[in-house]
Amino acid sequence: MRAIEAILDAARWAPSGDNTQTWQFDILADDRVRIHGFDTRDWCVYDLDGHASQLALGALLETLRIAASAHGLRAEWTRRAATADNHLMIDVVLTPDPGLGADERRPYIESRSVQRRAMGSAALSAAEKAELEAAAVPCRVIWFEALPARASIARLNFDSAEIRLTIPEAYRTHSTIIEWGARFSEDRIPEVAVGVDPATARLMRFVLASWRRVEFFNRWLMGTLVPRLQLDLIPGLACSGHAYLVMPSPPVTVDDYVAAGQCMQRFWLTVEKLGMQSQPEMTPLIFARYVRENRPFTDLPAGRQGAAGIADRLAALLGPEALARATWACRIGRRRALPGRSLRKPLSALLR
Ligand SMILES: Cc1cc2nc3c(=O)[nH]c(=O)nc-3n(C[C@H](O)[C@H](O)[C@H](O)COP(=O)(O)O)c2cc1C
Repeated sequence: MRAIEAILDAARWAPSGDNTQTWQFDILADDRVRIHGFDTRDWCVYDLDGHASQLALGALLETLRIAASAHGLRAEWTRRAATADNHLMIDVVLTPDPGLGADERRPYIESRSVQRRAMGSAALSAAEKAELEAAAVPCRVIWFEALPARASIARLNFDSAEIRLTIPEAYRTHSTIIEWGARFSEDRIPEVAVGVDPATARLMRFVLASWRRVEFFNRWLMGTLVPRLQLDLIPGLACSGHAYLVMPSPPVTVDDYVAAGQCMQRFWLTVEKLGMQSQPEMTPLIFARYVRENRPFTDLPAGRQGAAGIADRLAALLGPEALARATWACRIGRRRALPGRSLRKPLSALLR
């Protein structure tokens, strides 16, 4: 395998929303690749203006940069101006640099994974926090660690998930992104990585087969309660803390989101290097942005009201200034075994 192929083979392990892998690679020469970045805004309510996909693209570029460093190659890129926002093009050039050491996060690219279940909750040490904060620069990290602070975020995520699980606009995503019965999935989230117990997974599979079933379970049988307990409340308490990454100024352009994605991936790989795991908790931030921009994201009035409440609570927790600049939210905890995980499409399927 040529170095450029080995580097792209590693880069494709970058995380993307629901494992959508919204990118393709066009290898132009041994030292040059054009990356095409797409988004899912047309069908995914969580990909507001393509921002989630742009964060993932930033994570991809950062992963590429780290992988290239282990080959003694410096990766530099320019984004082509004047392409559509939902079809970005980034030209990457690799240049030999004998002085460049391998980035110490390289060994964690392939093993980094979400952990949606409860993690160990031993407190973060001052040294661990300092290393994580250094990895996130230029983002600042706002921590929620002590039990009452952890509980506020767990509660926020628990309430935000009720919106997520009751609005029809999110159903299309939820009903297509899980590979049921699977431990591993190349292009979706396998059932065991969803983070619920097997009985709940069976019920979710049945319910998500039609929107009418979802409505019935939600209306009469408190259908959202058990998933929210298992996915938000319990693991939100059983962790070392929650972290919000805040940019120096409010993100506006595609490049701002790509840069934020680079910070996020450095942070996440550093979590893994420290022997911990992380789990994104993005929906409150996304709902808060819809509210701030006064954009109705659902036809369901209760969903819009709920989002307004989430935005107010998040503004109180972070401060309105930091909320407008926050680009990433996650929890961190001590490592627990993973029963399965998302894999990736093979490199050959991503080449143009
Ligand atoms: C921008 C972005 C947003 C994400 N938001 C969430 C989220 O809100 N909830 C969640 O469970 N996972 C979230 N994820 C995690 C992805 O689902 C996960 O990275 C993907 O399925 C691949 O799995 P892996 O990270 O274990 O390789 C997000 C990932 C990215 C890159």
